[in-house]
Amino acid sequence: MSDKQNHTPKVRPEKIASKEEAGEAVEKLREAIRFHDYRYYVLNEPVISDRKYDELFQVLNDLEQQWDLVVPDSPTQKVAGEPMQELGTVRHTTPMMSLKAVYNEAGVRDFARTCRRQLGLDKVEYVVEPKYDGLSIELVYEDGRLVLAATRGDGERGEDVTANVRTIGEVPLSLLKRQDEKMPSRLVIRGEIYMRIDEFNTLNRRREQEGSRPFANPRNAAAGSVRQLDPRITKQRPLHLFLYELPEYEGRSLKTHWETLQIMLEWGLPVNRQMQYLVAGVDEALEHYDQLVRARDDMNFEIDGMVVKVNDLEDRSKLGARSRDPRWAIAYKFEPRRDTTRVRDIIVNVGRTGALTPVALLDPVNIGGVEVSRASLHNLSQVEEKDIRIGDTVEVERAGDVIPYVVRSLKEQRDNSQKRFTMPEHCPACGGEVFISRDRKNVRCTNVDCPAQLKERLQHFASRQALDIEGLGGKRARQLVDMGFVKSLPDLYMLSKDDLLQLPGYADKSATNLLAEIKEAKSITLERFIYALGIPLLGSHMTQVLAFHFKDLDALKNAGTEELQQINEVGPEVARSVVSFFSEEKNQRALQAMYEAGLRLENPLYSGGGGERPLQGLKFVFTGSLERWTRDQAKELVERYGGRATSAVSGETDYVVTGPGSGSKLDQARTHHVAILNENDFVSLLLERGVPL
Ligand code: IVH
Repeated sequence: MSDKQNHTPKVRPEKIASKEEAGEAVEKLREAIRFHDYRYYVLNEPVISDRKYDELFQVLNDLEQQWDLVVPDSPTQKVAGEPMQELGTVRHTTPMMSLKAVYNEAGVRDFARTCRRQLGLDKVEYVVEPKYDGLSIELVYEDGRLVLAATRGDGERGEDVTANVRTIGEVPLSLLKRQDEKMPSRLVIRGEIYMRIDEFNTLNRRREQEGSRPFANPRNAAAGSVRQLDPRITKQRPLHLFLYELPEYEGRSLKTHWETLQIMLEWGLPVNRQMQYLVAGVDEALEHYDQLVRARDDMNFEIDGMVVKVNDLEDRSKLGARSRDPRWAIAYKFEPRRDTTRVRDIIVNVGRTGALTPVALLDPVNIGGVEVSRASLHNLSQVEEKDIRIGDTVEVERAGDVIPYVVRSLKEQRDNSQKRFTMPEHCPACGGEVFISRDRKNVRCTNVDCPAQLKERLQHFASRQALDIEGLGGKRARQLVDMGFVKSLPDLYMLSKDDLLQLPGYADKSATNLLAEIKEAKSITLERFIYALGIPLLGSHMTQVLAFHFKDLDALKNAGTEELQQINEVGPEVARSVVSFFSEEKNQRALQAMYEAGLRLENPLYSGGGGERPLQGLKFVFTGSLERWTRDQAKELVERYGGRATSAVSGETDYVVTGPGSGSKLDQARTHHVAILNENDFVSLLLERGVPL
């Protein structure tokens, strides 16, 4: 892209008078935004502030809406669409082959010798690059536009994941123009989608908190995120990619792989230039291997080897391919962090959120310098799907920072001594009822007093978003349980000063303070309290949704799965989890005891609202997103207090409430002279009218 080009075009939407003018402005804005996406996502060197970028984006979005100029490859359309029924299949026009793997220097030297012999050369140039441990992907661009993204599948046919891949920031929907070239009519590009290790760990931590199953490793997380039916889910996942091959290119003829990589970069594609090397022969290639092995542990993404590729493209065609892999490239794999061993037993571990996780006890085996004797089986569904039995010989993997896990069982090695694993119906720690989700991925003890969980539960109960008892952190919670002062959550409300003074480090003042805080926390909002209970699958957002819908705890307690599922955002799993929690007798007793100890719940969203209609007669339209509520919640709120929320702006509308991403409704509001409120104005209006918030 030329420097003369304007990267922050000044467009004044109010001055635009025709569709043609709008069309020109929109084109300029798109070019500019593509350029900035490239600087940001590919080069990691943005040249404007996020704010400036958002402004450009907003203007483009408004113009497209106003003048009806939306096209599928506009940067504004890089948003997730609707879920699909199933992923379609696509036939690869060039088969996606695999790479022959070797595990030592001799293997690479053999490969190089064959190349030299076949080509009749003394020396062959190679490009070396990392072998990424992700999900291989094919992108097809026609006239510079992304038209297809497909997984490898069996090499001949893969899955159509276009809608999902479109949501990945680093994937350009349109290619940048190279100065001396018109956009090639068709390009097939290949590479690897991956997840960074730090982002993977964060994602898994969040999943665990939310009660969903953590991913086994970054590769599975990337693959699971791409092979989704709902692109909105993919969009939320931190995905990246490196592209490294161009099997089809109907443009000017290219001579080398090295040149190809450069051109791919100029089209705006993410190419890992920093880690690719052009080498004069096999010795030099092998030097890079040692370097890569050393760098591996410090890298933020997983690689499992080095790929050596013949640089000259004509030489590649001369060498050709075997049935599954080309003769012009080889993968020199790292020492595997996998080995096989025998499963002695499968036990069940009760985790801090009450999750029951099957764990394999193994005959100790040394994997990459670490003795492994236990491996996570993650969840019941995986044990069943992989059909892992006690006594099986299994393959165990230990990757980077990730805990060891069982990859598969070697069924051909079975005699008749193997035993199937069954999940206990009662919690091994407390005998409480076990909740098994329908997909068999979530298995939990539903007893709030389960001792294996109590310390964590108590800490969660007192945490900032819950009861907010500052003097009760993890250490205090553990002491209270260990000393036997808290045997179940309601005991917290019954603590005396004498109890507290027996704990290490408590003086009169700190004990008095803690008791005062506990007393104060007896009056609490419904939302905080539901959150505090730590019901499986209910994070802070879901508790907000429930508190919004249910007037009080009784209403929630008495709701059946059907009523719960009527609520927007509540799916069958959450509904079942709520019902199962409240039907557990121990939980009912605990709640009863809390009430008896003085617990008072209030739901400010409802108190005072009974029958009052402070918004009577007012019509609202919402556009764009709000911070405090989803649009549906805001509508529900307005209607609860007597107002009406409609979707179309008309002369009848009293207020249009706007947030970021608002579209054409804003203009309609202006046309109809309707008052426009931002979120703060809206909140002020509600408060003025006495709507309790
Ligand atoms: S080239 C015909 N380059 O490894 C070979 N592949 O085992 C085309 N992979 O399916 C692939 N990093 O998903 C190539 N730098 C790299 C790679 C790479 C990872 C994957 C790719 C392929 C598999 C083959």
